[in-house]
Amino acid sequence: MTQSIKTVAIASDHGGYAMKQFIIKKLKEDGWQVVDYGTDSEKSVDYPDYIHPLASDVNIGNFPLGIILCGSGNGAQMTANKYENVRAALCWNTEQAILSRQHNNANIISLPGRFVTMEDAWKMVYLFLNTSFEGGRHQQRVDKISNLR
Ligand code: RB5
Repeated sequence: MTQSIKTVAIASDHGGYAMKQFIIKKLKEDGWQVVDYGTDSEKSVDYPDYIHPLASDVNIGNFPLGIILCGSGNGAQMTANKYENVRAALCWNTEQAILSRQHNNANIISLPGRFVTMEDAWKMVYLFLNTSFEGGRHQQRVDKISNLR
């Protein structure tokens, strides 16, 4: 089932749990429906167990956009980018969040839960969700990402 554009999926491990809960609150205040893939506490877990289900659903078009978090943002991003139709962008600031949409047509934002503030994380998510892909020369480049040698 394809979700409406105002529905977004979110997942984290324990390193991103507190930030995930904060972002869910802000998203709901902003009128978004949120599908939460867990984790559900700060108990130590393995990030692929939570990122794979979300990335798989974005990959098959069940959600247009997703948000993932772990301590550094790296493991979550690496896991999500295993999927052919996923372009997950690790973002540390608002400029990166905007460019990931404008230039890369990123469909998942990966956030480092232990290295950015809650407010900065929300600003990044807000801009990610409200910025469009520019297409044109960037479409040509995105099309080449899967051209493995
Ligand atoms: C968990 O300690 C940490 O390794 C994880 O959240 C993430 O940063 C991995 O990339």
